[in-house]
Amino acid sequence: MAIQHGLFLVYLSLLLLPLCMAKATTIHQGEAQAQAHALLQWKSTLLNSTSLSSWSHANPTCSWFGVICGVSGHVTDLEAEGCSLRGTLDALCSSKLSSLLTINFDNNDLVGAIPVNISMFPSLYLLVLSTNNLVGPIPYQLRELRHLRYLDLSSNRLSGPVPRSLSMLTMLHYLKLGQNNLSGEIPEELGLMHRLEELELNTNSLGGPIPASLGKLRMLASMDLSDNDLCSTLPPELGNLTRLSYMDLSFNKLHGGLPRTFSMMSKMYMFLAGNNNLSGNSIPLEFFTNWTTISSFDIANNSFTGSIPPEIGQWENLGELFLSGNSFMGAIPIELGSSVFLYTLDLASNQLNNGIPSEIGNLTSLDFLDLSSNQLEGEIPAINPEADATYIVLSGNKFTSIRDWSFCQLPSLQFLDLSNNRLSGVIPSCLWSMQTLEYLDLSGNSFDGEVTIPIGNSNSSSNTAVAASF
Ligand SMILES: *[C@@H]1O[C@H](CO)[C@@H](O)[C@H](O)[C@H]1NC(C)=O
Ligand SMILES: *[C@@H]1O[C@H](CO)[C@@H](O)[C@H](O)[C@H]1NC(C)=O
Ligand SMILES: *[C@@H]1O[C@H](CO)[C@@H](O)[C@H](O)[C@H]1NC(C)=O
Ligand SMILES: *[C@@H]1O[C@H](CO)[C@@H](O)[C@H](O)[C@H]1NC(C)=O
Ligand SMILES: *[C@@H]1O[C@H](CO)[C@@H](O)[C@H](O)[C@H]1NC(C)=O
Ligand SMILES: *[C@@H]1O[C@H](CO)[C@@H](O)[C@H](O)[C@H]1NC(C)=O
Ligand SMILES: *[C@@H]1O[C@H](CO)[C@@H](O)[C@H](O)[C@H]1NC(C)=O
Ligand SMILES: *[C@@H]1O[C@H](CO)[C@@H](O)[C@H](O)[C@H]1NC(C)=O
Ligand SMILES: *[C@@H]1O[C@H](CO)[C@@H](O)[C@H](O)[C@H]1NC(C)=O
Repeated sequence: MAIQHGLFLVYLSLLLLPLCMAKATTIHQGEAQAQAHALLQWKSTLLNSTSLSSWSHANPTCSWFGVICGVSGHVTDLEAEGCSLRGTLDALCSSKLSSLLTINFDNNDLVGAIPVNISMFPSLYLLVLSTNNLVGPIPYQLRELRHLRYLDLSSNRLSGPVPRSLSMLTMLHYLKLGQNNLSGEIPEELGLMHRLEELELNTNSLGGPIPASLGKLRMLASMDLSDNDLCSTLPPELGNLTRLSYMDLSFNKLHGGLPRTFSMMSKMYMFLAGNNNLSGNSIPLEFFTNWTTISSFDIANNSFTGSIPPEIGQWENLGELFLSGNSFMGAIPIELGSSVFLYTLDLASNQLNNGIPSEIGNLTSLDFLDLSSNQLEGEIPAINPEADATYIVLSGNKFTSIRDWSFCQLPSLQFLDLSNNRLSGVIPSCLWSMQTLEYLDLSGNSFDGEVTIPIGNSNSSSNTAVAASF
């Protein structure tokens, strides 16, 4: 996904910055020694600095591993990702390193708090401390890093609130604070960070509402607020985020309906809002006309009612659809059969009735099909072997027959659950020679005949759970 290239783009767009900011004169010898000394001082506090073995007076500072200097000889970048560095950042904060533009210590073993005097690097535009073991609060002094464009503190154990003062970082394009232990509410002031392209606050303990002010972040392309305790309705103002392509609100306590204004977010690619208590009679029809590029749509485990609109066939690029765990009723629309890229279809645990349209069985990309716990009936249609499905669950319905036992022709099928239906007749022997099948459940039906288990030709070790009763 394009979003993942964010960091790279920041580097690119700022490539010229060091030139502009570099002091005209070359570094004095005293200054050069002082910055080398400062770095070595920090190294000496680390409990594991094996990867920094080149950091020594024997080598010129600008040749040290992970150290980049500007043309003037000032250290501008520190970059040591995944180097098992263990220790605190305390001794790093030295006025001798005030020429630093970027710090990237992603994926190390840094401990302790983020020192408040990290704000003494006035030119810093990139600060990445993600995937470490940092604890304590996010220092409000970060607001002094006025040139900051990229701030990533995700995957640590930071606690306390998201400081309101971060909103003073108006140059910020990327704010990633996910996977920490942050609490309190999302500050309304974040709406002032008008250059923000990516906002990631997922997997914390943030409560309260989603602030309507976030609708002012006109540049936002990606918003991840998932896995918190957010408790509010969805602000219609978010519909103003017309550049948004990724929105993850899942695993919160959000309620109320899907605002129609969301249809204005016409770049939407992944919309994930499952596992809340959102409700509404069906899905606003405007979504189907306007979200022309949607690939993943997840509103599973909410309280939606009504039918699945046939307009869903207009989502030509749909790959994943999760509507399970709601109260959708009526028939599965035939129009879903035109979603040629659909590979995950999860409509389980609703009140859908009628049969499965043969067009669904005919889908060419289908990999995962879960229609369990509905009131579907009649014949299970043939599943297109071209689709190479691996997971099919049709249990807990009222199916009475199976067209051609097409499951036998699926070359990669691993999981097949047809339990608790009204199926009868003879179980075809072709099932027992399926090499890939790991789980088969035919129980709770009325099949006849005796069957030999375990499955003949395949590795018995891979047949982890075969439950069959007749
Ligand atoms: C110290 O760092 C080195 C270099 O990254 C790594 O190979 C080694 O496993 C680390 N030692 C410990 C005890 O973590
Ligand atoms: C920066 O803060 C750390 C921890 O709070 C402290 O140990 C260090 O001496 C400070 N450095 C400067 C230059 O003030
Ligand atoms: C998360 O923060 C709370 C206080 O807000 C604290 O009680 C809890 O121990 C923290 N959990 C972890 C895993 O750090
Ligand atoms: C944002 O959306 C709200 C509600 O949908 C609307 O009333 C408001 O005018 C919009 N704001 C701007 C600046 O367009
Ligand atoms: C659909 O999106 C366009 C912008 O692409 C917007 O102008 C229009 O208002 C949207 N329609 C609805 C019904 O939201
Ligand atoms: C979820 O919302 C419905 C109304 O939309 C309400 O009746 C129900 O009590 C809510 N459930 C929870 C767990 O809040
Ligand atoms: C819905 O909730 C159930 C039960 O908590 C869970 O097993 C399932 O994975 C959820 N489905 C989705 C699509 O999130
Ligand atoms: C299944 O797809 C094939 C071509 O992909 C088409 O010819 C056939 O009519 C389809 N059958 C159904 C029942 O949709
Ligand atoms: C059983 O599994 C092993 C390794 O997983 C594989 O090498 C072997 O070919 C398998 N045998 C059969 C009969 O599938």
